[in-house]
Amino acid sequence: MPLANYSPLHGLPPLAGVADFSSAMKLGLSIDDCVDRLKRHHWAFRRLHQIFIQRLTAEPIYELKMAFSLHAHYCAEHAAAWRTRVGEMREPPLGLDEVPHAACEVFFDEVLSARDAGTLLLGIYGHALPALRAALQRHLTDTNPLIDHPSVRIIRFALIEVDEMIAYGAKAIAVMPSAEKPETLAAWAGLLDGLLAASGGFDGAGARVGAAPERMFSSQPRSYDKVPKRDERFPDPYNMGVHAEVFLYDEKMPASAKTLMMYYKRLREIDVPEMMASIIAETKGQPWNYHVDMTRQLWDEARHAMMGEVGFVRAGIDWRQFVRVNFTWSLALNTQLKPLERHAVLYFIEQGLMPKTGKRFEWEVGLASGDAFSALCQDYDWADEVLHARIGRDWYVKQIGNAKQATTFGDECWSRVLIDWQSYRDRGLTRHENWWPALYREYCRIRGEEPDPAVLAYDTSYATARADLKELSVSG
Ligand SMILES: [Fe+2]
Ligand SMILES: [Fe+2]
Ligand SMILES: [Fe+2]
Repeated sequence: MPLANYSPLHGLPPLAGVADFSSAMKLGLSIDDCVDRLKRHHWAFRRLHQIFIQRLTAEPIYELKMAFSLHAHYCAEHAAAWRTRVGEMREPPLGLDEVPHAACEVFFDEVLSARDAGTLLLGIYGHALPALRAALQRHLTDTNPLIDHPSVRIIRFALIEVDEMIAYGAKAIAVMPSAEKPETLAAWAGLLDGLLAASGGFDGAGARVGAAPERMFSSQPRSYDKVPKRDERFPDPYNMGVHAEVFLYDEKMPASAKTLMMYYKRLREIDVPEMMASIIAETKGQPWNYHVDMTRQLWDEARHAMMGEVGFVRAGIDWRQFVRVNFTWSLALNTQLKPLERHAVLYFIEQGLMPKTGKRFEWEVGLASGDAFSALCQDYDWADEVLHARIGRDWYVKQIGNAKQATTFGDECWSRVLIDWQSYRDRGLTRHENWWPALYREYCRIRGEEPDPAVLAYDTSYATARADLKELSVSG
């Protein structure tokens, strides 16, 4: 019998506030059971990360690309937290790369193999994440809140973002129906439920019922599609008709108009998640922290794109009408280079963003323009770029040897990439229309200003950009 009338001194909250005595006295999960569940939580986050990464590049809808970038970042971070926790429990974090249960594996393969965006959303946000949530909740219910407090804490943090993802997904599912026939979808939902039952939930703690797992969509393994796709708001994805950097670095051009070019450059950063996803998807054998860092950078690049989007909206400009955002960089890198070579190019370009004529310059233009939002975007864009340089040193440079070799190799790979302005035109893919005058005119109209004839006349395309790629980066 527990001691009756036991209470903390002065009636203070007991046990540092983490539990009351009755819950702190319960026999919760043993270390073995706890580690088993932690490994399974880890596995679920890891497979979700993989799904977001693998489906991002070829997903045409910009909003989904952005959401997948964020959710991949969340999943990479939480997977890392479980790995660390397992390492704290008298067990080296071994066996983390093993599939916990065959049915779990098929479950995630099925979601990964969904044949359209609506079905994919349903699989991720309607099936996988709610099942993961239930597993995390069950861990909280089953474990001793004091004795296993470090796990409890990690789960609590994970639940915040799991709930955020589920809430996002519920809204997305409501507006993006599956393209599958209702009977196919019903059979698939039944299959996913069956797989979950067969593995006893993602945590394996429930009753395991059912036969050997079957496959539907994943019976033909889905290979990673590295060719970027865009939605209808990107009607001219080969357009290289407006050379943003030449304008930006032209001292005669006014800072206020340059903010437009910077919003364009930010929005164009959609191509970096598209490209980085391909590096992450196709690079094998790296430690988990590689995925954590690379996915953080991927999410930063997605944020930069959204900063550009917000900048245009804030300025009252409908970018869908006035701006042509291309995908030539991610397309060329993904289809012409190996993963390490893509990373080399990314590193090489980002190195070039650090000197005086890089991110600091863009921030100074933002300050000089009087557009405080532009300055704010550039301030953070610059800070993020410093982090990316560190990530490049940690994961790319170390694979190559030293910084000098890494830069040389990056330069070499970048020179090999064929982004062929002329051939895009010859093949009828684009006319490289100069969209700048209409955008600038709209900007002036909104501000009630007369367009500056010199600014309006700007007509430099990327036709000759090859020559100055080294001086003027075309991405980042
Ligand atoms: Fe950026
Ligand atoms: Fe970057
Ligand atoms: Fe960037």
